[in-house]
Amino acid sequence: MGLSKRLAITGLLSLATTVLLFSASAVAEPLSRNSIGRDAERFIDQTMNSIEFNWDNVDEKVHEVIDDVADKFKHTYNKATKWAKTLTHESFPGVQVRMKEPKLCDPDVKQSRNKPKEDPLTLWLNGGPGCSSLTGLFMELGPCSVKEDGSGTEYNPYSWNSNSSVIFLDQPTNVGYSYGNSVSNTVSAAKDVYALLQVFFKEFPQYQRLDFHVAGESYAGHYIPAIGTEINEQNKKMATPLLRAPGIQHINLASLLIGNGLTDPLVQYEYYPKMACENSYGPVLSQATCDQMAASYSTCAGLIQRCYDSGSAFMCLPAASYCNQKMIGPYQMSGQNPYDVRKKCEGDNLCYPILGAVQDYLNRPEIMEELGAEVDNYKSCNMQVNFNFMLQGDWMKPFHRMVPPLLDDGVRILLYSGDADFICNWMGNKAWALDLEWSGKEKLNEKEDRKWKANGHHAGDVRRSGPLTFLRAFGAGHMVPYDKPAESLEMFNTWVSGKRL
Ligand SMILES: *[C@@H]1O[C@H](CO)[C@@H](O)[C@H](O)[C@H]1NC(C)=O
Repeated sequence: MGLSKRLAITGLLSLATTVLLFSASAVAEPLSRNSIGRDAERFIDQTMNSIEFNWDNVDEKVHEVIDDVADKFKHTYNKATKWAKTLTHESFPGVQVRMKEPKLCDPDVKQSRNKPKEDPLTLWLNGGPGCSSLTGLFMELGPCSVKEDGSGTEYNPYSWNSNSSVIFLDQPTNVGYSYGNSVSNTVSAAKDVYALLQVFFKEFPQYQRLDFHVAGESYAGHYIPAIGTEINEQNKKMATPLLRAPGIQHINLASLLIGNGLTDPLVQYEYYPKMACENSYGPVLSQATCDQMAASYSTCAGLIQRCYDSGSAFMCLPAASYCNQKMIGPYQMSGQNPYDVRKKCEGDNLCYPILGAVQDYLNRPEIMEELGAEVDNYKSCNMQVNFNFMLQGDWMKPFHRMVPPLLDDGVRILLYSGDADFICNWMGNKAWALDLEWSGKEKLNEKEDRKWKANGHHAGDVRRSGPLTFLRAFGAGHMVPYDKPAESLEMFNTWVSGKRL
């Protein structure tokens, strides 16, 4: 679907980004264009030293750095693009979607490869915060993949558009090719996504009556519950004519799919030492290091709890600083890939050289022109966006609390986890699923795991209670569709067709 968006569309990683702030060696390349990374690192170091003593001081520094970042990060819009069409919506006067139909990727099919008029519509989101969903398109589950040498793309037979149309959205603003006033927290970003969807359905009403799914991975474990909630709440509001904004359409929210997400940090962070030392592929760290990490968890948990209780940036930021340094830092120093315990970290691009090829491809002038990109360059992850989210305390907030009302309203939710990922590991994902307070909690805890068969073999373990399903995918890291294309497509198709896994 060749859309480009002013706020902007087209279609991980993630946690790496903030984690980068804590690792001296990792700060080098992606940030070399300016000194923001170094400032960020210095800032975090300083706050780390000062949080326990002087809160006012932290406040001051936060503002200093925000101003600094704002100054240094300015896009220039210097490319004149010919748009086929500009879309607007009376209820969202600030939003423009500009449209183009590029001849790239899989030129024959821009929607579902099966029956676009009947198959569901899925929104795909990568994480970060600040990372482009074009990673999902060109590396994981899109209709074509960028070749290892970056020279072009090749057809992906396992694309998730086999039986669903898929939108890959770069959000929040200033991620990937998108630009606009910056947004620095998940809840505001979700409102922008909702506005974009309304503009989209106004122009393409044929998709409005289809089932709608929101899928993604990593930090999208924050985004997806927030977007689901925004859609669900707006749908309910529409039922009251007085509250109904002009031109707003009902969105048929059918399900959410969260792959290796960060959703309930308090529970998730407890599992870092266990994943590092007791995963099924063999220990990555020494038992002494894991014991040390485990010992840090009580302070970390106390800080996250204060963040949960207050919701304030001044509580949430120290939690992220402390916990990332103590719980993730030791793993990062090991040189192992944080997205896959089986692999060494190779290259500068979040440990995946192919991501460098995707980035090179998307920076080629002819590709940018064909897509109508209006930014100077494309980066897999925008560190400024990442940092701004961090400063607003978004990282440690309890997005799992948005899940029970959605389940109660009949939205199906699938949590799927590659079991070789460290950064958003399956142990933590499963633990928060079992810990979640909702009507089906008891049943989910009483049940036993069942074998999940896919691609003709035992590909994972699954358990379900009513609308909530947890799936552990064997042999996949953080990016399940990249590591297990056939199995993940089978999972996706089974799930969106409404069947049980
Ligand atoms: C998926 O698409 C294929 C054709 O590409 C079709 O044969 C199959 O029935 C579709 N599956 C579903 C569940 O619609």
